[in-house]
Amino acid sequence: MTTYLVTGGAGFIGSNFVHYMLRHHTDVRIIDLDALTYAGNLENLKDLEDDDRHVFVRGDICDRALIGDLLRGWDPDVIVNFAAESHVDRSITGPEIFVVTNVMGTVNLLQRAKDAWYDAGQKTWRKGKKYIQVSTDEVYGALGAEGYFTEETPLDPHSPYSSSKASADHFVKAFHDTYGMPVCITRCSNNYGPYQFPEKLIPLIIRNASEHMPLPVYGDGMQIRDWLYVEDHCRAIDLVASGGRPGEVYNVGGHNERSNLFIVKEIISRLSARLDDPAICESLIRHVEDRPGHDRRYGIDPEKIRKELGWIPETNFGTGIAKTVDWYLAHRDWTDHVTSGEYLRYYEEMYGERMR
Ligand code: NAD
Ligand code: DAU
Repeated sequence: MTTYLVTGGAGFIGSNFVHYMLRHHTDVRIIDLDALTYAGNLENLKDLEDDDRHVFVRGDICDRALIGDLLRGWDPDVIVNFAAESHVDRSITGPEIFVVTNVMGTVNLLQRAKDAWYDAGQKTWRKGKKYIQVSTDEVYGALGAEGYFTEETPLDPHSPYSSSKASADHFVKAFHDTYGMPVCITRCSNNYGPYQFPEKLIPLIIRNASEHMPLPVYGDGMQIRDWLYVEDHCRAIDLVASGGRPGEVYNVGGHNERSNLFIVKEIISRLSARLDDPAICESLIRHVEDRPGHDRRYGIDPEKIRKELGWIPETNFGTGIAKTVDWYLAHRDWTDHVTSGEYLRYYEEMYGERMR
């Protein structure tokens, strides 16, 4: 039995990872720690209520005593840290919480894991332990028309979000280089799939288009992201947990670069066909004021994880986006719940002025 402490397991990728692990392994136990911020939602884990391999704990990764208790009480073999403030636009209007959660929270997890796993006298780590930091391609900054991010690309973050993630990555590496802590860092490109909060491009466009609302495209819409179906990301993390070499970074990407405008038009055409609704059409698109400091292009070279761990993306974009659109159509109640209350205030603050 391998015990995982998964943080942020009620969010988008974290909840998909928890489901993935319980589906693919019988011999795992998951302690799922999440603060349930606006982005975390227990509905994402509802079907696991009767699965005693999954234990949910509401709490903050910055909480020193709680993390210490969880590590002593459950003695996890692997910590996978998904917990973060994850939205670039929110980091532009309010950067401080990104430092608290993404930097201080990560350092707290590292420090508590060191307390639990490190024998300072012998300078040895307990066998079979590993810490995984789920990071992002955004730490590398932006690409021009050519080339890809490799694990050797220097960090050059531009947004408060990516700066906080890069800072956290430096601390993770520092714990490896200074104390020999067994860590791995994964840096993944843009994920899409079920349970993604509708502040991010794909679920926001699906929701707005279904309601015949305007579809906000920042600037000219020709920025490029490298889209990966979330389940492929979960498999990559599973492989890094079991086979990733300590101290190493693994880039994870779908070789699926698309412009934002392409993505928006693709969703329009699929939704319109699925719902047989000609009012879902390209005239809903609104080019609005661009995101400040907007990175033009991301593109991952995933060769290292392919060569070392045999990972390749298995879901092509056509299949992934069809599954995603179907999931959102079948879970309108989920979208309605998560977009009530605070979301409406957020939407007005972020888009009200831009759309008028
Ligand atoms: P998300 O915003 O959907 O989920 C984040 C989760 O963390 C939420 O459940 C939230 O409640 C929880 N959380 C926030 N602050 C916390 C705290 N202080 N203590 C405990 N829990 C807390 O994010 P996501 O898109 O699922 O991203 C997960 C991780 O993957 C993040 O670290 C992000 O940087 C990284 N990542 C995301 C993508 C992407 O495309 N979404 C791509 C690469 C990397
Ligand atoms: O690259 C990995 C990153 O992908 C993760 O680290 C982040 O946590 C995740 O949020 C995501 O960041 P992006 O900024 O790329 O994702 P977002 O969905 O916010 O935006 C995708 C692109 O679409 C980006 O170029 C901005 C644009 N966009 C976004 C929104 C929300 C729009 O044009 N209109 C919008 O309304």
